[in-house]
Amino acid sequence: MVPIDKVVVSIGGSVLIPGNNDSDYIARLAEMLISASKEVQLAVVCGGGKTARYYASTGRELGGDTYQLDIMGIGATRLNAQLLGVALGDMPVRVPETVEETANASKPGKIVVMGGTEPGHTTDAVATMVAREMGADRVVNATAVDAVYTDDPRTNPSAERIPEMTIARLGEIVYKEHDASRSSVFDPLGVKIAEECRIDISMVDGRDLIELEKAILGKPFNGTFVNSH
Ligand code: UTP
Repeated sequence: MVPIDKVVVSIGGSVLIPGNNDSDYIARLAEMLISASKEVQLAVVCGGGKTARYYASTGRELGGDTYQLDIMGIGATRLNAQLLGVALGDMPVRVPETVEETANASKPGKIVVMGGTEPGHTTDAVATMVAREMGADRVVNATAVDAVYTDDPRTNPSAERIPEMTIARLGEIVYKEHDASRSSVFDPLGVKIAEECRIDISMVDGRDLIELEKAILGKPFNGTFVNSH
């Protein structure tokens, strides 16, 4: 049998459920994933998005601690995984709760969908852990920020998209951001794992299904390709 690429998609909750034609988008996303799964072996990790943020902010107002807020955040990521599962025609009644469970369930032609795992992580980091466990070739980060830029494109109109960079360079960017406690383009823990295990990271606008499919299939795409080799 010809070996096929293994790919883990980290799909941000802000991409999955922004409250903008979500069911239409999720249906088209599922259709694309089913088609792509004929060519690559796929696992998908869903983020928490606005549902997670609602529970985090309301829970915080009620005096919840970080552990409690994380547990609710994980619940939101798993709900989103089930929502995508509905569209894939295979809603898990119980979403895989560990990296190992997802890697063990993964096989060619089957799309395994999960959310977070344990407090203190992000779904981007979980995606790289799943990739490490599966021996995956790349993580595709389907995000609302379509690429890594030379500067913040929201405040600097002349900021340019960086089409390709090394994992070491991404490491420099996210560790610096982390110190300044800004939200990272990718979780620093995920970058560390990707660097150690030589897993490439493709950053792409998750709402652009044409580009997302190209990134999943390992074709040239509009976004940022982070080379770990
Ligand atoms: P995400 O990692 O999806 O956060 O998890 P996010 O930054 O909101 O990403 P988008 O908006 O979906 O792209 C949501 C929250 O769930 C908890 C954390 O509190 C996180 O902020 N979480 C998630 C965990 O504690 N562990 C996990 O493994 C995953």
